[in-house]
Amino acid sequence: MTQEKNMKLPDFKLERFFAKYEFSAPYVLCSSDPQSISIEELLALEDGSLEGLKKQYLGYTETKGSPKLKEELCKLYENIYDNEILVHSGGEEGIFLFMNTALEKGDHIIALFPAYQSLYSIAEAIGCEVTYWKLIQNKDNTFELDLDFLAKNIKKNTKAIIVNFPHNPTGYLPDLKTFKEIIEIAKENNVIFFCDEVYRYLEHDRKDTLPSASDLYDFAISTGSMSKAFGLPGLRIGWTASRNQALLNKMWSYKDFTTICSSAPSEYLATIAVRNREKIFKKNLEIIEENLKILKEFFKKHENLFTFSSPKATTIAFPSIKKEINIEKFCVDLVEKKGVFLLPSTKYDFGDRNFRIGFGKKTMKECLGKLEEYLNSY
Ligand SMILES: Cc1ncc(COP(=O)(O)O)c(C=O)c1O
Repeated sequence: MTQEKNMKLPDFKLERFFAKYEFSAPYVLCSSDPQSISIEELLALEDGSLEGLKKQYLGYTETKGSPKLKEELCKLYENIYDNEILVHSGGEEGIFLFMNTALEKGDHIIALFPAYQSLYSIAEAIGCEVTYWKLIQNKDNTFELDLDFLAKNIKKNTKAIIVNFPHNPTGYLPDLKTFKEIIEIAKENNVIFFCDEVYRYLEHDRKDTLPSASDLYDFAISTGSMSKAFGLPGLRIGWTASRNQALLNKMWSYKDFTTICSSAPSEYLATIAVRNREKIFKKNLEIIEENLKILKEFFKKHENLFTFSSPKATTIAFPSIKKEINIEKFCVDLVEKKGVFLLPSTKYDFGDRNFRIGFGKKTMKECLGKLEEYLNSY
């Protein structure tokens, strides 16, 4: 029996920081998921669903995902059929399966930066060479992409371009033209385009929703999740959509070593959520719209201290502080003294001026009030 040297993963900085404060701080103000609902509220969206839940058999489920769930998930795409979907545990497992099956030591990847850490750390741990494609941060705290950088940095051994749109932590969303240009660069160079789409359908204006990368390119891998647009991270259901059967099958087979199959009750509940998605998206977007009004006023009032730009999508923004103070120190002092939890950019290895703020929850206003109290005594 041969055994490769173990892959050594570093600490996931953001998740370790969350582990410290997410369930102990009373005023969490940096969540990236929208307002969740209870099982009762979810079941209320569909007649007969409680009976169905009670009867749900608790055996193993199909390892590629429940057929009913896959049938519903296909409706989120134009040209994806149920055999082109792999269900797994959250978006996170999809990223892990993809990196471990598509990438090998010595491969080169280009990864959007800053990013949710698994989108580059797993590749690094495998031994890939990673080029960071940095979002350009403008003075007003809007963000943009340099497409020339992407095109110029493709090498002979470039295996994949890894992006996440809409983007964590900035809320950045490219326009359709830019998105298609990026995919064109991937196509011309015959490289995999991995698009983390877990925030898709959290565009503040639904006209801005991009097509899924998996609908535009045979060599694209799109990740979806119940955690963000659906606000149901407790289900731990995510999926991958791709027309690349070979890659999808490799991921499916690797899953035998991670979770085998998904939780049967979660798949049942996720199916109801996807079927009733428009009601859920509407509820989320109403909260976001209301919260953004309040947030904009807050940052206008404190423009001497912060630079804020309202993003086009997601439930998060990435403002910066104008004072010469290390943002991690600021956030730790804030959470220790006032119980308000903000996420410093140091947890993304992205300088020490920005912080992530969340506006998807009903509690945002109360949390902002506490932040205001802190600033008044600052
Ligand atoms: C960009 C991105 N991808 C993937 C994930 C993982 O999400 P989950 O495993 O809950 O679906 C997150 C969570 O914050 C994320 O922000």
